Amino acid sequence: MSNSHLQIPFEAELTLTRLQPRLDQLWVETGADPDCISEFQQRLQEYWLRLFAHLFELYGTRYDFFFHLEKILLAAARSWVERPEDLKKSDQHRIYQDDWFRSEQMVGGALYVDLFSENLGKLRETISYFKDLGLSYLHLMPLFAVRPGDNDGGYAISNYRSVDPRLGTIDDLKLLASDLREAGISLVLDFVFNHTSDDHFWAQKAQAGEREYQQFYYIFPDRTVPNQYERTLREIFPTVRRGNFTWHDGMQQWVWTTFNSYQWDLNYSNPAVFRAMMEEMLFLANTGVDILRLDAVAFIWKQMGTSCENLPQAHTVIRAYNAIARIAAPGMLFKSEAIVHPDDVVRYIDTKECQISYNPTLMALLWESLATREVKLLTQSLSHRQILPPGTIWTNYLRCHDDIGWTFDDEDAAAVGINGFDHRQFLNHFYTGQFPGSFARGVPFQHNPETGDMRISGTLASLAGLEQAIDEGDEELKELAIRRIILLHGIILSIGGIPLFYLGEEWGMLNDYDFVKDPAKAGDTRWIHRPKMRWDYLNELEASSVPEEGSIRKRIFTSVQRLIALRKKYDSIAGLAMELIPLRNPHVLGFLRTHSGGRLMVLGNFTEHPQSVSGNILRTAGLGRFFQDQITGREYQTSEDIELEPYQVVWLIRV
Ligand code: GLC
Ligand code: GLC
Repeated sequence: MSNSHLQIPFEAELTLTRLQPRLDQLWVETGADPDCISEFQQRLQEYWLRLFAHLFELYGTRYDFFFHLEKILLAAARSWVERPEDLKKSDQHRIYQDDWFRSEQMVGGALYVDLFSENLGKLRETISYFKDLGLSYLHLMPLFAVRPGDNDGGYAISNYRSVDPRLGTIDDLKLLASDLREAGISLVLDFVFNHTSDDHFWAQKAQAGEREYQQFYYIFPDRTVPNQYERTLREIFPTVRRGNFTWHDGMQQWVWTTFNSYQWDLNYSNPAVFRAMMEEMLFLANTGVDILRLDAVAFIWKQMGTSCENLPQAHTVIRAYNAIARIAAPGMLFKSEAIVHPDDVVRYIDTKECQISYNPTLMALLWESLATREVKLLTQSLSHRQILPPGTIWTNYLRCHDDIGWTFDDEDAAAVGINGFDHRQFLNHFYTGQFPGSFARGVPFQHNPETGDMRISGTLASLAGLEQAIDEGDEELKELAIRRIILLHGIILSIGGIPLFYLGEEWGMLNDYDFVKDPAKAGDTRWIHRPKMRWDYLNELEASSVPEEGSIRKRIFTSVQRLIALRKKYDSIAGLAMELIPLRNPHVLGFLRTHSGGRLMVLGNFTEHPQSVSGNILRTAGLGRFFQDQITGREYQTSEDIELEPYQVVWLIRV
């Protein structure tokens, strides 16, 4: 251990002693009450060393380190003073009930405010819809002020402190947050901190030639440095523009733009950027966010000669933000959006970093299993990747607003005799409907002709075969597609983690090919799976007779709703403990969930043929002879083998 490492606790304490008078002054200035002060000071004691160590690691060699440190501490304190009382109450509650988000009661939904209900005011009127469906977590896609024209579905933010006027105001957002809290629904918003829009105030200053703000971004006078970086970089949006840099005519300079050309990557090696974004984060926290979705975490730190993805300092930045959240908004959790290799995904997941993470590998491998009708890669991956550190959890999803990328591990694939590269080609063929016999109607996203790389867009239902079946008017195919949809939901609702629905999914929404009519959307096929909510479908639920497609939607909706309600009945579904059952049938996934004495055995048939599963194996795994499927109510005895219908999923409880 180096000397400097040993000195950190000492330096941290000394620094805090030096800063305390400034803090005391702030308490006086703001007229903070004694409870407010003592709660803050107590948490500062607990988390200061952590925060200091992370910031020292990132910025300790900068001459302006102490300046920024002081500002960071004061901003955190001020934000705590301003934090609304109801949020402080919820903070208290969550400090003592720190497992709340790992419960079987958690079920998530995600939506675009404009596409779902036009604006925030109208969204408040649809809270009963979320409750009827059984949601307890709601992710609103970015709703902040954006640049005119194309804005990457809200991910090109021009002002983090104002809501897109088409959607409402900050006050509307606060009202909604508080109504959701009352309804027992946690609010999830994005923290888009990797980049700003090119018309954000900082970017405008940079364009006006202000050096202080040019240092907020990565800006280069010519191609020399960009070319050096480019040697080791991936291309994320190759159909938007080749490479990772965009020429800016006004400045006559190159700007780092990992995603769209109007999304400028922020330079976190500059402590001013860390601090500025921290203030935006605390502002968001105080609007009533329960879970902050950290967007594009993989890309936030750059270093020459590396892929500039998942670098150690990216973790340090997030950990520093986490420590600040613990101090100034202790009830708020982080969720990481790292759609990268599974080994890298898991590195963001820690109570000290992101307590929650997307589970992109499970998502991709469920689709993989549907295509191949085999679960070997899925089980190989689950066997060592599903369990996470204590106090953390996955969100399990089938579709989201983004594309599907085949982010499984090539070694997992090799272990079960699959060549990763070839398999990705196959999956892309399959899900774009080109593979003979494919049921899927996906479309390519970001095809890179040089590497052959491609991702897939499409709604859950269209990818699962419903669109094709309806087009062909084939009853059998319709039945199979519906069963695939229910199978996938039956798995993500029970396997461990927060199931997350991209709303529309609960109706079996099909691809929306009209997105090409909007010039701001035409170039991005992800809009195909972001259809507008059809409120008229709700009427079909009540109606005694509906057209055929309506009855399909009704069946999907009521099945999903029932599965959600069922999930909430079993505390064995809480947490992550999950054991795979070695079924010796390559087409059937089987796992056991146990929690506080409860047991739930889940089986899923990934083929269009009936499959049988050994009664003996189930008896041993489930510790019983008689079981009841909670979905159909049917009883099974393990003295015989169990027959599963095509694509059937069962949730077995011992009786
Ligand atoms: C995230 C979002 C995606 C967006 C990208 C750039 O990955 O999920 O929609 O394009 O970040 O902000
Ligand atoms: C890439 C990125 C991911 C982003 C996606 C958008 O997969 O890794 O962060 O959401 O592109 O398409």
